[in-house]
Amino acid sequence: MFYTFNMQKAIYPGSFDPMTNGHLDIVTRASKIFDHVTVAVLQNRSKRGTNLFEVEERVQIIRDATAHLPNVSVDSFQGLTAEYARDLHVKVIVRGLRAISDYESELQIAHLNRQLNRDLETVFIMAATRWSYVSSTMAKEIASYGGDILKLVPAASAKALKERYASANQAAT
Ligand code: PNS
Repeated sequence: MFYTFNMQKAIYPGSFDPMTNGHLDIVTRASKIFDHVTVAVLQNRSKRGTNLFEVEERVQIIRDATAHLPNVSVDSFQGLTAEYARDLHVKVIVRGLRAISDYESELQIAHLNRQLNRDLETVFIMAATRWSYVSSTMAKEIASYGGDILKLVPAASAKALKERYASANQAAT
């Protein structure tokens, strides 16, 4: 991707374990606001072991799901988002807000990120109402019981979830 100096770039960080239709909606809308959006998949010590998918798998799922968005790329990072943004020379973090319950922790994260990197602004995009109840956690739970998740997550996530739980259930028998 070729960057010019004045391009307004943003990062959209998260766990994406795996990407949901809500995440896809946020990155699609962010791609219409910013010249370039990097979906940044966190590979953090504190979350290691709690994710269903390896970081490389989560990155590949997002690449598949966003292949039609020419100004979106996917990367992974470790450590602090504020430092990662500094390394990329990015001044905007995009986050989605589904409900008022998201607001409290997002407010805290946004303030902390700005304390760590004064150049950073967090831009919140309100989740579309149709996805406001969707989360990776719930998609995983439904998939683990063999439920239909095709309306909740992109096809690449649904395929990965089906395969993961099929092999997990096979191993358990
Ligand atoms: O998808 P998530 O789990 O809600 O994303 C949370 C994320 C990755 C944005 C947040 O935990 C984060 O930025 N973690 C990186 C570590 C960090 O920078 N911590 C300081 C601010 S919380």
